[in-house]
Amino acid sequence: MIEEEIPDQGIRLRSPDAAEGGAIWSVARDTGTLDLNSSYLYMLLARDFADTCVVAEQDGQLVGFVTGYRRPRQPEVLFLWQIGIHPDFQGKGLGKRLVGAFLRQPGADRASVLETTVSPDNASSRALFESIARDLGTGCHVKPCFAAEDFPEAGHEAEDLFTIGPFRPAALNRLVS
Ligand SMILES: CC(C)(COP(=O)(O)OP(=O)(O)OC[C@H]1O[C@@H](n2cnc3c(N)ncnc32)[C@H](O)[C@@H]1OP(=O)(O)O)[C@@H](O)C(=O)NCCC(=O)NCCS
Repeated sequence: MIEEEIPDQGIRLRSPDAAEGGAIWSVARDTGTLDLNSSYLYMLLARDFADTCVVAEQDGQLVGFVTGYRRPRQPEVLFLWQIGIHPDFQGKGLGKRLVGAFLRQPGADRASVLETTVSPDNASSRALFESIARDLGTGCHVKPCFAAEDFPEAGHEAEDLFTIGPFRPAALNRLVS
């Protein structure tokens, strides 16, 4: 389990407890922009994938989260599924710190590539991952992953695959903690 404290902000970064899936769902809802999945899915993630998830807590409230998993057939790849910061806490460096904690947690041990998908018009998310690649001193390769028409429901945006890496474990020390 990871445990990091952001100096002066009283924000703690840690693995979620098994019972915190509902609270993660609430933060995802509060972002207003994330694809909101069923609460049941977030509950399963907190219960079974806590080693590859991190939450940010302030005064007992979750204010951010990142969820992901290792690709079963490519364990060197850590896939970041969703990151969400409560609107009151966006633009203050918390997203970068959460990704740093995500990459440093024990469940990410020996991973050398970070993958995620981002929709083309999500400027903040694209900026976040480009910034992470710069800090790690590695490349950020972007290619189409899912087209809008791949989604069964109308109105879903396309998703581009961001591949960041390879990076060495020592490079993780360059990410703010
Ligand atoms: C995307 C998100 C996680 C970023 O987290 P954040 O805490 O706001 O971002 P940070 O303050 O850590 O900023 C990280 C970098 O992105 C840049 N950035 C952040 N928001 C930006 C914006 N709106 N436009 C351009 N750049 C932006 C910052 O300048 C910083 O770059 P730098 O390191 O070069 O200075 C957050 O805005 C969010 O939760 N958005 C809603 C949900 C979402 O879209 N999630 C991503 C899809 S899974």
